[in-house]
Amino acid sequence: MKRLHLILLSILILVSCDRAGKDRIPQVEDLLKKMTLEEKIGQMTQICFSTITLDGTKTLHMDTAKVREAITEYHIGSFLSGTGSGKEWVDFVTEVQRIAMKETRLGIPVILGIDHVHGANYVDEGTILPHNLTLSCSFDSALAGLAAEVTADETAVTGLVWSFSPVLDIGKNPYWPRFYETFGEDPLVCSRMGLSYLKHYDRSPSDSLYGLVSCGKHFVGYSDPKTGWDRTPAEIPEQILWEFFIPPFSDAINEGIKTIMVNSGEVNGQPVHTSEWLLQEILRSRLGFEGVILTDIKDIQKIVEMHAAAKDLKEATFLALEAGIDISMSCDAYDFCRIVQELVEEGRISEKRIEESTRRILNLKYELGLFENPYPPQNSLDILGCKEHRQAAEKIAEESMVLLKNNGILPLRDPGTRIFLSGFAINSRRMLNGAWTHEWMGAAEERHAKHMPTLVEAMMEEFGKEQITNLETPVAVDEVAKKQFRQMAGDADVIVLTVGEEPYSEFKGNIGDLSLDEGQKELVRLAGSTNKPVILILIEGRPRSINGMVDQSDAVVFAGIPGSGGGPALAGILSGRVNPSGKLSFSYPGQVGHYGPYYHKPSDRYISIFPFGHGLSYTNFEYSDLSVSDSIFKDPDREITLSVRILNTGSVKGKEAVLVYFRDNVGRLTRPVKQLLDFRKTELLPGEDKTLEFSFRPYNAFSYPDRKGNKILEQGSFTIMIDSLEVPLHFKQDIN
Ligand code: BGC
Repeated sequence: MKRLHLILLSILILVSCDRAGKDRIPQVEDLLKKMTLEEKIGQMTQICFSTITLDGTKTLHMDTAKVREAITEYHIGSFLSGTGSGKEWVDFVTEVQRIAMKETRLGIPVILGIDHVHGANYVDEGTILPHNLTLSCSFDSALAGLAAEVTADETAVTGLVWSFSPVLDIGKNPYWPRFYETFGEDPLVCSRMGLSYLKHYDRSPSDSLYGLVSCGKHFVGYSDPKTGWDRTPAEIPEQILWEFFIPPFSDAINEGIKTIMVNSGEVNGQPVHTSEWLLQEILRSRLGFEGVILTDIKDIQKIVEMHAAAKDLKEATFLALEAGIDISMSCDAYDFCRIVQELVEEGRISEKRIEESTRRILNLKYELGLFENPYPPQNSLDILGCKEHRQAAEKIAEESMVLLKNNGILPLRDPGTRIFLSGFAINSRRMLNGAWTHEWMGAAEERHAKHMPTLVEAMMEEFGKEQITNLETPVAVDEVAKKQFRQMAGDADVIVLTVGEEPYSEFKGNIGDLSLDEGQKELVRLAGSTNKPVILILIEGRPRSINGMVDQSDAVVFAGIPGSGGGPALAGILSGRVNPSGKLSFSYPGQVGHYGPYYHKPSDRYISIFPFGHGLSYTNFEYSDLSVSDSIFKDPDREITLSVRILNTGSVKGKEAVLVYFRDNVGRLTRPVKQLLDFRKTELLPGEDKTLEFSFRPYNAFSYPDRKGNKILEQGSFTIMIDSLEVPLHFKQDIN
């Protein structure tokens, strides 16, 4: 710790301001003076691990000759991805850094990036946390902080210092196969969860000298492609971009986020990687981002091959540089190095432009302390998957699952209840952990930690082995399976049935229909026909259509992609050991083709089967006494406080996420029917009441952007809403 303070202090002393007011680190400036053009371009190039391993996969079996070639000949400054044990990571990173520090002229450390998007998911022993969508249903940003802390602590001990997370895209289109990577549909929830990640990543983990650098992705407009398919074009009005898509990024920039990854797709007719409007005008100038802009994977290539927006790689590279990228995630080729060199030699790109990017990258390496401490700590791997972290994973899963329906069947308190557990994922760890777990598409079953309980194991542990019978069913249920199902259901008191999705990543998860497959629907019908109570569990990364299934079920739980603590968390909810407190961070569509967020326009009559913010508990909360400090305000910058009383009227303690909404009753640009203003989770004992206060400045809270991003606040009336309570507010500038 003491050593860390000294390093931070020395960095602070060494940082000075130049005349332009920008922070300049003298060592970086000295280094820049010594660097050749090739060395600078190398810093701007990121190469995949598969390029430098013996078998050309992501495993950590290093091909030292290739690493040496990358670092000493191409001067590569950065690598990405890879998967292996903690020990393999430490050895790999140590050797890569040794080559960079000892075998090169200038000894510049490399920076290694990884998609640790739900825990240290590319380290074999890492703790696997719920995916973001699930986590965001907790409506508790402190839990996002806990998730970030676990991820940072477990990542740092391997020597990896850069995580390509958090995702700051809003989850607007449930067809989009990366929906589960978002923190849901609301920009405020995405911002709060994202900021919590940044704060906990950027502090240095206690037992290492490193912090973890975050990467906000994917700037911007990735999550709402018109077709719903990954990386297909989005057409988003500028006003909507400013109002809903940009805020999580602008908040992260204000909080000091250091790196941002670009959206692979096109927005309003132009690939974002070539868009000076989005990258220069908005990201750099309007939002003031001074950190490193990273392309997504092979995206300069995609400008040619996917978008046909440049005739060849050279033109595409030119456009991306003009637009403002700093690092090209080139992955498996050194073309970027060669082409940029040519562009500079031909005078199309100035060396000054290359230097600007190199400076940002070297600054990042300095700020991380990589020059002083390039090597991973030794002997710190005990923290990987430790008990405390596993408990954290379970706690987050408990608070994130959402009880959508309950006709009184839950919790299953009677100790004699015979439970028949069936469905498609009951013996699988892979389904609970989802994609981005050890492998891009989620590793094969045998690679998931054996100590992680499956659903069957967790249910047996919770209720007693003798109370549980189970039948894992194939996705396509045949007659034999049906017969067995009926028989086993007949011997039980209650059926717990899992339905949902197998893991998928990016375009691999493209679907043309939100409906679940026929086999699963058939199983729910079968369960419904047994006359036994049915508890339906949804294990899925996006709201697949459950039309018809809800009516056939006595209770429904959204478990999302809950990670390694998912089994015990779910079992705890079913038994009542855990009182569910999650709420939906997205609207659950009532139809397969008609979907939209809760903040739709008044003329839209969007119907969800379960609305945003819906979630039941085993207790009841009663809201009363909603009031505001000023019901008429003149100065929109003056803080207003609102308060509300909440009472636990039930017989068990419970947590409630209090969601405060507002509505701008009349707007020249049509305003959403409601918007989240604030939220906070609180715990109440039976009979306990609390008065919660929330404060806000009307200008910040109620104003909305025009299509240039300029804020508008119109005089008139607003409504604050909590639960079923409402209170009016008026903005009048001509009162005394
Ligand atoms: C994804 C990014 C990810 C990158 C590196 C891309 O395919 O879009 O989110 O960070 O791969 O793995």
